[in-house]
Amino acid sequence: MASDAATPFTSSTTAKYSPHTEALYAKVKDLIPKVEWAAYAPLIDDINLLKRERNAVILAHNYQTPEIFHGVADITGDSLALAQRAVDAEADVVVLCGVHFMAETAKILNPERTVLIPDPEAGCSLAASITGQDVRDLRAKYPGVPVVTYVNTSAEVKAESDVCCTSANATEVVESLGCDRVIMIPDEFLAGYVARNTDVEIIPWRGRCEVHEQFTAQELQSYRQQFPSIVILAHPECPGDVLDEADMVGSTSGMIRYIDEQRPEQVALITECSMSDNVAAEFPQTRFVRPCTICPHMKVITLEKILNSLQTLRYEVEVDTEVSERARRSVERMLEVGRGERG
Ligand code: 13P
Ligand code: SF4
Repeated sequence: MASDAATPFTSSTTAKYSPHTEALYAKVKDLIPKVEWAAYAPLIDDINLLKRERNAVILAHNYQTPEIFHGVADITGDSLALAQRAVDAEADVVVLCGVHFMAETAKILNPERTVLIPDPEAGCSLAASITGQDVRDLRAKYPGVPVVTYVNTSAEVKAESDVCCTSANATEVVESLGCDRVIMIPDEFLAGYVARNTDVEIIPWRGRCEVHEQFTAQELQSYRQQFPSIVILAHPECPGDVLDEADMVGSTSGMIRYIDEQRPEQVALITECSMSDNVAAEFPQTRFVRPCTICPHMKVITLEKILNSLQTLRYEVEVDTEVSERARRSVERMLEVGRGERG
């Protein structure tokens, strides 16, 4: 509908951009070749026009590609920030550019709003590693031990849990329970990271992020040899020996905050590929060493699919009411504990 209504300002041959995309390109020119921008610019204009017509807000995770992150997103952030900001946004429609569990969390916290995900197949290896039945089995095996659940899980799993956590507040949430032992699902590396930072005994699950599990300590050591003044920031979904090599361990938003406050000359972000691109555009004075490990699930979201989502109001995220209410309790309990990382 709106692609007809919105007159493109550019064509791949003449490459005349709208004032908006012209200004935007100055920011991302080191990340996106001009020939690619010629294809993105009209889509960005169409999306931004239709977004206003629909009274929609676009939320994009830090791992979305730069043309989405800088081109059409109204709100960017880590998985929790997106869900929280969706609550505050005064929009009829929320388009979540990220993976399915993020859109589901936004829906759980905004049951009255239309929440769309441009591609419902955007999954996550952590969310896929555990089911509600697995949580019930864990409870039967460890009676009375509370379950702390990373937000990278389905609504069904959150509904079976006592409280959620994110990479930003996991240790804080575990310690808030005042127990000697907790079950922590589903990421074994995040659980290991928390176990090293608390006296609480942690019972882990065997889930892993298929992206972060690929990093190695040797890789980080080689960066230090090549770039002696480098500062290395790692996501807690990485293996323990990788985290030992890092200067700072934190969520994607925690990494951005660190760079903003410390302004290091050179950094390596040990996390998904697009993160360095997106942050580099904001901090041109910092040099980025870019280990590139792509999350294939994040990358199924494209400008074309976002435009299609706004045109057709698909794909709407639905969560069963009873599951949603129980899952919301777990998320809200976490929000009462806090954001961690001074968030
Ligand atoms: P953050 O909450 O740190 O953004 O992490 C989400 C995620 O999927 C990391 O792989
Ligand atoms: Fe899931 Fe890992 Fe992709 Fe994050 S990077 S969405 S944890 S598979």
